[in-house]
Amino acid sequence: MTSPAYRSAVAAFVLLLFPPAPSSAPAREKARGSTSARTSLSDTSTEKRIDELVRKMTLEEKVGQLVQYSAGQPTGPGTGRTDYDDMIRKGEVGALLNISTARQVNVFQHIAVEQSRLHIPVLFGLDVIHGFRTEFPIPLGLASTWDPDVVEQTARVAAREASASGIRWVFSPMVDIARDARWGRMAEGAGEDPYLGEVMARAYVHGYQGTRLDAPDSVAACPKHFVGYGAAEGGRDYNSTEISEHTLRQYYLPPFHAAIEEGAATLMSAFNALNGVPSSANPFTLTEILRREWGFQGIVDSDYTALAELIPHGIANDGATAARKAFLAGVDMDMVSSLYHDHLAKLVRSGEVPEAAVDEAVRRVLRVKLALGLFELPYADETKEAGAMLHPDSVTLARTAAEESFVLLKNSSVGASPLLPMPGNVNTFALIGPLANDRGNMLGSWAGQGRPQDVVTLRTALNERIGARNVHYAKGAEIIGGTDEQLEEAVKAAEQSDVAILALGENAPEMTGEAASRAFLGLPGRQEELLEKVVATGKPVVLLVFSGRPLTLPWAFQHVTAVIAAWFPGIQSGPALVRTLFGDANPSGRLVVSWPRSVGQEPLYYNALNTGRPARNVDLTRPPRNIVERYVSRYIDEQNSPQFPFGFGLSYTTFRYGNLHIDKTQISAKSLNDDLQAREHKQSAALSASADITNTGTRPGVETVECYLRFQGTSVAQPVRALTKFQRITLAPGETRKVTFLLGSNAFAIWNDQQKFAAEPARVTLWIGPDSSQGVQATLEITK
Ligand code: BGC
Repeated sequence: MTSPAYRSAVAAFVLLLFPPAPSSAPAREKARGSTSARTSLSDTSTEKRIDELVRKMTLEEKVGQLVQYSAGQPTGPGTGRTDYDDMIRKGEVGALLNISTARQVNVFQHIAVEQSRLHIPVLFGLDVIHGFRTEFPIPLGLASTWDPDVVEQTARVAAREASASGIRWVFSPMVDIARDARWGRMAEGAGEDPYLGEVMARAYVHGYQGTRLDAPDSVAACPKHFVGYGAAEGGRDYNSTEISEHTLRQYYLPPFHAAIEEGAATLMSAFNALNGVPSSANPFTLTEILRREWGFQGIVDSDYTALAELIPHGIANDGATAARKAFLAGVDMDMVSSLYHDHLAKLVRSGEVPEAAVDEAVRRVLRVKLALGLFELPYADETKEAGAMLHPDSVTLARTAAEESFVLLKNSSVGASPLLPMPGNVNTFALIGPLANDRGNMLGSWAGQGRPQDVVTLRTALNERIGARNVHYAKGAEIIGGTDEQLEEAVKAAEQSDVAILALGENAPEMTGEAASRAFLGLPGRQEELLEKVVATGKPVVLLVFSGRPLTLPWAFQHVTAVIAAWFPGIQSGPALVRTLFGDANPSGRLVVSWPRSVGQEPLYYNALNTGRPARNVDLTRPPRNIVERYVSRYIDEQNSPQFPFGFGLSYTTFRYGNLHIDKTQISAKSLNDDLQAREHKQSAALSASADITNTGTRPGVETVECYLRFQGTSVAQPVRALTKFQRITLAPGETRKVTFLLGSNAFAIWNDQQKFAAEPARVTLWIGPDSSQGVQATLEITK
């Protein structure tokens, strides 16, 4: 009881009760301006109500508020208890997950509100990841839109539909930085970049929570998984992570911080061990950073059985110890493990856990329930549930989001012009592939309440567009497996047609998302063989890649005429793809992850350090031939560069960048730091940078203009480039627009060798360009 670990946990708890003034780390600039509304979790009258309730509660009732079970389709191993009616009646359950209909919600809620002593409603949570009934593209696809407004709207629709079913808490957004495509959960997040991650995190939180959490159609967001889960070694799900404090602060924490600043009411602690200490029992991240530095007032929920997993992690030999460690580290609610239910009251009685700490955790749970207005409106209106789903506007939004999510990776010419959009002289199509007419997979790995019957497939939409008689459909192969006959049939279909469209890729629920790490990143089964056979017919081929991650397809990128990364596009897959293929929609999606050439390059991310032996000016397409080519940071059998860089994506038009202008070539670190320290952070621009972007093609198009920075000469090595801002603009053919980025002082600050966010003297390179590998550039200096 008096071990150093115990003392530090108690010290952490004391800090939690009496947090000091916010640390010197200043609030980072709001990515989308300071106007974004932030939902408040509390006010004095709420705190009073909480005081009154807590005073009335027995210890067991308090613990009950910290207990959560799965009462529906399980989303992990073991479902804890099942005698929920009785437990709810006794006030032993604070929250349930995996219930998904108004009817089920109401059954439990009537017991809680009418039969439990204190009438405290249950909070119902669910994995609503990219839509509830209206399924949108998977989050990796949504992020590829680089359009936070669209992402926010999808979250709003999800909130409206989920709340109509009584779900007032969604386990989203997943804001884990993902640098390794082997990790299946890359599909669920916004990719590898912290700034883009911040922008998307805010969009989701604002979409879910709206401007008032107590509006009946608002739901509490739950950014997850705190923290570092995406850095799983070897890309193997649930594996351990080693992340230095610097890397944690500079890359992994910013999207979480943005979500909290946006007012996220809850947060989920992760499965992974972080530098040896499991994230679900980590006082440094859960208390020191989250509560003390960021002032988070909401609920920390553990991931599914994450507390019981402290035992196999090796930091507890029994359930009581696991419960104590997790609780004192800062986990308020125990998802499914049942360890708080079994041990927390005893730990309080034995003096190992202060009751005041339990009170504080209970206050957080009640605070969120009150903020949601659950006490006033605990039930779902069953008569309105069905009418809330699949509203025509929501379906249109699903199509728009899908169209914006597609990334055109290659579009070679056939004759004089690029194959896409489809020229008018193409009359017949071969439509080939296991994903061309597949409804279920289009819904992604967390299909939520989405139903296959809601999906319009590519085959249906193409038939509708050009008439079924002009479409020669052949499945060609299964996702895994397939017969020679299927292959032959596909080749025949291609031979009979002007163009072949191939819909290939992964099985969404089985090969992407949770517990779906892959050691090989090619097309599964016989699909590569199918692709090569169809290409061998000599017909122009459009390859649509459906996947939850970038796939290594070097042969395809060399031999296939046109390639689109389609991710898993949701219920409007077919119409969105057909409109894109025929040019009604012009692709504007951009990669949010570096696309690897080989699995051996992973983890692969653009914002990497330069190393002391960068392979600049060395031809990496062949093995080294001399010491100059050899003793650099490289592979002897693969290039360093990705197949396609972060930020990349083609359009049916082309854009030119020129006339880069910056309004200063020197800024002093002192003035930047004074500005950063100012209590009321004014959004005064430290630098204005602009460039002229011209649409040099013949179609209107959307260009995402990206602004990157590099700092050299700093106390901690900085990445070769870091995204600092971006703007999506629409340009008519021939139109030129000056795009201006106003960079605040925070754009020039880094996490330094004292773990402070501050500006330092440095040489700065700034790029404005279409992706992370190109652009017009300028240099400036940060002086003392
Ligand atoms: C996942 C979480 C999810 C939870 C509840 C876990 O297995 O890691 O992302 O929210 O289950 O379903």
